[in-house]
Amino acid sequence: MVKQITSLIALAALASGQGFPSTCPAVPTPSPNATVGTCPTDFTIIGGELQPVHESYSPPTGFAIDPNQKIYLTYPRNTGPTPVNVVVATSFTNEEPWPNAAIQNCSTGQNVAECFINVQNVVLDSINQLWVVDSGIPPGQKSAVTNGSKIMSFDLGGNLLRTYVIPEDLYYDKFNANDVRINNTLGTKGYAFITDESDSGSLAAINLDDGSVTRRLHNSTVTRADEHYVGVYNGELIYGWNGTNKSYLTTGSDGIALASGNVYWGVLASRRFYYISQETLVNTSVSDEDMLAAVQDPGQCGTEQAGFSADENGRVYICASEHNAIFYVDTQQSEVNETVNGVAPGGSGPVAAKNYVVKDLIRNALIQHADSMAILDGWLYFCTNQLNYGPTRQYMNVDKRRGPFRSYRYWIGAGPAV
Ligand SMILES: *[C@@H]1O[C@H](CO)[C@@H](O)[C@H](O)[C@H]1NC(C)=O
Ligand SMILES: *[C@@H]1O[C@H](CO)[C@@H](O)[C@H](O)[C@H]1NC(C)=O
Ligand SMILES: *[C@@H]1O[C@H](CO)[C@@H](O)[C@H](O)[C@H]1NC(C)=O
Ligand SMILES: *[C@@H]1O[C@H](CO)[C@@H](O)[C@H](O)[C@H]1NC(C)=O
Ligand SMILES: *[C@@H]1O[C@H](CO)[C@@H](O)[C@H](O)[C@H]1NC(C)=O
Ligand SMILES: *[C@@H]1O[C@H](CO)[C@@H](O)[C@H](O)[C@H]1NC(C)=O
Ligand SMILES: *[C@@H]1O[C@H](CO)[C@@H](O)[C@H](O)[C@H]1NC(C)=O
Ligand SMILES: *[C@@H]1O[C@H](CO)[C@@H](O)[C@H](O)[C@H]1NC(C)=O
Ligand SMILES: *[C@@H]1O[C@H](CO)[C@@H](O)[C@H](O)[C@H]1NC(C)=O
Repeated sequence: MVKQITSLIALAALASGQGFPSTCPAVPTPSPNATVGTCPTDFTIIGGELQPVHESYSPPTGFAIDPNQKIYLTYPRNTGPTPVNVVVATSFTNEEPWPNAAIQNCSTGQNVAECFINVQNVVLDSINQLWVVDSGIPPGQKSAVTNGSKIMSFDLGGNLLRTYVIPEDLYYDKFNANDVRINNTLGTKGYAFITDESDSGSLAAINLDDGSVTRRLHNSTVTRADEHYVGVYNGELIYGWNGTNKSYLTTGSDGIALASGNVYWGVLASRRFYYISQETLVNTSVSDEDMLAAVQDPGQCGTEQAGFSADENGRVYICASEHNAIFYVDTQQSEVNETVNGVAPGGSGPVAAKNYVVKDLIRNALIQHADSMAILDGWLYFCTNQLNYGPTRQYMNVDKRRGPFRSYRYWIGAGPAV
């Protein structure tokens, strides 16, 4: 045993905390010379004011806003049935089924290509069509049912335009369509890009002209979760729980955005994100080895992330659920305002992956697991759902989520990527 006798006098001086503030101001007033972290509540708030745009009574995963300022949300059925899967907001707190009530549930014997099984997100494209992405995996099941995994396009009046069913031979290894983005000008009639959030993960691309689908990067290092991943939410470490049995989150590729001809995506149970050229991803002649080699790794983004978006300036936004924040990264050199690795700010062309610098846009306690984002008329919109307080991620499966679940908007002064 180490003989270390601390004098009572020294201990008393320590405990009295000489010079330590005994009271903290309700509103911290930062003094330029104060130490970093003067009071227990001194968390740095980054960015300006958030405007609430909608309140949901159930936790939403998907969010879209159309040019008429109509807000659409999805209430997925991953952990159980929800009465309505996709809604349009009719006021700050009210919603109605969208595009109609009948499509929300598949009836016995109905071709499930025609109705919603488990829609995860709703997304506006650049020609004012709304797209829903349906995992086709009924509550409590592990794999998509035949014809269930699909994307459907609608006009703003809610009329179905076209359905693209992902063929059953691509459902192997629990393919789980989670999110979608559309490039309306790539190829002849555009492409849809889909993340598969199954444990092994992958990316799918649908040729919107002929409906052909490819699934690439399956079970690769860039689509699969970190082994034994443990994330953080509101300062608490997040495990998977079944009663008192601990596990780890294994969600693969999840959030997705298109910018500058690339697909950007993140692996949810990780702090990793990547990008690849859209043209390469849809090229069926590219071997698996070359596809993996074509993936760009800009370094980790320091957060678990469920959602991505991109603006017209090539700025990519990341829902930073571990930080109550939205992060961003400029991918076009013209938008870069600082010298990085000897490359001066400004200029033209894409930023090299090694020069990507991810930054904080907003950090604010109102942001309780931002999940999906949408950009319209200079505003960045997002929904929040407290995902990591849900029962599968809490000890003894306690549901710590407390609604209402708010959606917000934040001024960014840019339109969506096209
Ligand atoms: C902060 O510190 C600088 C340098 O020590 C000093 O000149 C200045 O007066 C201080 N300002 C305040 C507000 O204490
Ligand atoms: C969908 O089915 C559930 C029962 O599983 C029911 O409660 C709900 O009202 C139905 N939704 C619609 C829009 O009919
Ligand atoms: C799947 O969809 C195709 C084309 O619409 C249809 O012919 C087939 O019967 C459907 N299968 C099932 C199981 O509903
Ligand atoms: C995915 O890859 C890992 C590591 O190579 C391997 O252990 C696992 O069996 C693969 N899973 C599937 C479904 O191919
Ligand atoms: C939890 O464990 C029970 C008993 O092993 C099992 O039946 C159930 O499916 C598990 N739940 C989840 C969400 O894994
Ligand atoms: C938890 O793990 C124990 C030991 O493996 C097992 O006997 C029990 O069924 C598990 N409980 C649940 C709810 O999965
Ligand atoms: C869509 O594809 C076109 C044609 O390849 C490309 O110029 C454009 O940058 C892509 N859009 C986005 C948002 O990546
Ligand atoms: C597709 O990839 C193959 C093999 O790398 C390449 O030869 C071909 O030029 C690519 N096609 C397009 C349209 O880029
Ligand atoms: C670049 O822009 C960011 C965000 O507006 C700002 O915080 C930073 O100070 C700027 N850097 C320079 C060198 O102006």
